[in-house]
Amino acid sequence: MMRATMRILITGAGGQIGSELVTSLRERGYDVHPSDRAPKPDNPALAGVPWHPLDVTDAEAVTRLVGELRPGRIFHLAAVLSARGEQMPQLTYAVNQTGTYNLLEACRLHGVGQLVFTSTIAVFGPGLPDLVADDVPLQPSTMYGVTKVAGELLGQYYARKYGLDFRGVRFPGLISASLPGGGTSDYALFMYVDGVRRGTYDAFCRADTRIPLMYMPDGLRALLELSEAPRARLRRCIYNVAAFSPTAQQIADSVRRVLPDVRIGFVSDPHRQAILDSWPRALDDTCAQEDWGWKATFDLERMTDDLIPRIRGMLARAPDAFSSTVH
Ligand SMILES: NC(=O)c1ccc[n+]([C@@H]2O[C@H](COP(=O)([O-])OP(=O)(O)OC[C@H]3O[C@@H](n4cnc5c(N)ncnc54)[C@H](O)[C@@H]3O)[C@@H](O)[C@H]2O)c1
Repeated sequence: MMRATMRILITGAGGQIGSELVTSLRERGYDVHPSDRAPKPDNPALAGVPWHPLDVTDAEAVTRLVGELRPGRIFHLAAVLSARGEQMPQLTYAVNQTGTYNLLEACRLHGVGQLVFTSTIAVFGPGLPDLVADDVPLQPSTMYGVTKVAGELLGQYYARKYGLDFRGVRFPGLISASLPGGGTSDYALFMYVDGVRRGTYDAFCRADTRIPLMYMPDGLRALLELSEAPRARLRRCIYNVAAFSPTAQQIADSVRRVLPDVRIGFVSDPHRQAILDSWPRALDDTCAQEDWGWKATFDLERMTDDLIPRIRGMLARAPDAFSSTVH
């Protein structure tokens, strides 16, 4: 069976999404080859899994590894995210823009069938309606957003020009019981994390801030289902995917439903608030629903019930698990 033997390369595999995607793909029978600039994480789920050191800004190294492995599919996750990206715009350009170009070129040179791209709500800019569809003007305000728009457009060029099967999702802020990589939506996770470990948290946004969010199991499923959908059913390369869009206050209320003694305040940071205010309040994912049957299964309350025990478990195993990130 083709799916059972297909070889898959993942870039940025040590991050929040990659570390869980490796396991999901292996469970589905794929021959999974994770890569990252960072060393292999100390994660029992990765025992026995090959790990390829790869900096995606190094074009020669990217082409060499793709030539050696000859994967049928690549999940290209390596990136610098929005909050870190505003601290280091030049590095963000190199990793997100040049890195994506290097991957696309390696796909062209070695005939890789499919490249899966992880885009973001950060491709959008201010002035859009509350519910944002796929095809609206993209006017991002961050280097992260600029490079993700460029990645979407470059991939679509390679699809037209060279027949690459380029497909991807625009993810909302993703939430999971793991260390996030420095995104501007991290306030949502830290209401849960600091709620559990400290009983108090001041979010860096206003209480009425509303952006689209998604729980990680749905995010992983979106990547798997899109990558496995028949190409003939896909009318486009890049799809909005949505789950729920709570205000920051609604997230705080949901945390307090389970942890009634937790105090959550709001101390808005002007830089990150400006980014949050430039993003859509909700995504219209009708195209993803129609073309490949996308549907999220977790809403805010289901996520809260599932997430809090996981965070407790993680903090019990590794008390410093969430200590080194922007939040
Ligand atoms: N997490 C979210 O909320 C979210 C939302 C929308 C889109 N995305 C996208 O999903 C992808 C994965 O996100 P994540 O949350 O796992 O991010 P993350 O920051 O947790 O992980 C990114 C990984 O990329 C690696 N990396 C950085 N520079 C690299 C380089 N030069 N070469 C190779 N690897 C490098 C890092 O070591 C890290 O392991 C990214 O493309 C991101 O833009 C994430």
